Amino acid sequence: MSGLFITLEGPEGAGKSTNRDYLANCLQARGINVLLTREPGGTPLAERIRELLLAPTDEPMAADTELLLMFAARAQHLETVIRPALQRGEVVLCDRFTDATYAYQGGGRGLSFARIAILEEFVQGALRPDLTLVFDLPVEVGLSRAAARGRLDRFEQEGRGFFEAVRKTYLQRAAVAPSRYRVIDAGQPLAEVQQALDQLLPELLERCLA
Ligand code: TMP
Repeated sequence: MSGLFITLEGPEGAGKSTNRDYLANCLQARGINVLLTREPGGTPLAERIRELLLAPTDEPMAADTELLLMFAARAQHLETVIRPALQRGEVVLCDRFTDATYAYQGGGRGLSFARIAILEEFVQGALRPDLTLVFDLPVEVGLSRAAARGRLDRFEQEGRGFFEAVRKTYLQRAAVAPSRYRVIDAGQPLAEVQQALDQLLPELLERCLA
């Protein structure tokens, strides 16, 4: 595969989509082909699985059901969108990927990281993101930004402890593999977050054009 696979991670309210669009514009302005996508979702079928995952339900969803639905959506997304784009040599900018599964289903729900790793291998084979940007934010800031957006989805209805575990898992994963992760302080004003992205651009461009 010759493209570049970049994922954006972080809690709700971290501004991932805004920053993903900003980064995409910066790369496209330099003539680079960028594909913007997201998880769970990114294809019509995977978006239907997303609806199942995000809609609050009377019947509590078992943690394993949630985990398997995440990977079911991911399998479809990889097969029909991500792998073909990488094979065409494009830069894929994906709003969340398997780090979110470790953070939410592993950290948040308490499922074992070893079981997640088995599914990761099963669904992705050797494919991993080339670079992961973690937009880090204090939990209470993220939750109040999410609440200000209106009706809460099934994840946003979780309590503070869940999101503390999500944040901790992201930061732990970034700390053990610093060559793949860049942690960005998403609590600062947007202009400063984008300045941090600007500083990353030379490295990104070098990797895109390599
Ligand atoms: P978002 O697109 O608004 O960030 O919402 C997606 C939600 O799904 C978010 O709360 C994080 C959650 N999620 C997981 O729990 N596991 C995953 O693997 C992914 C991709 C997302």
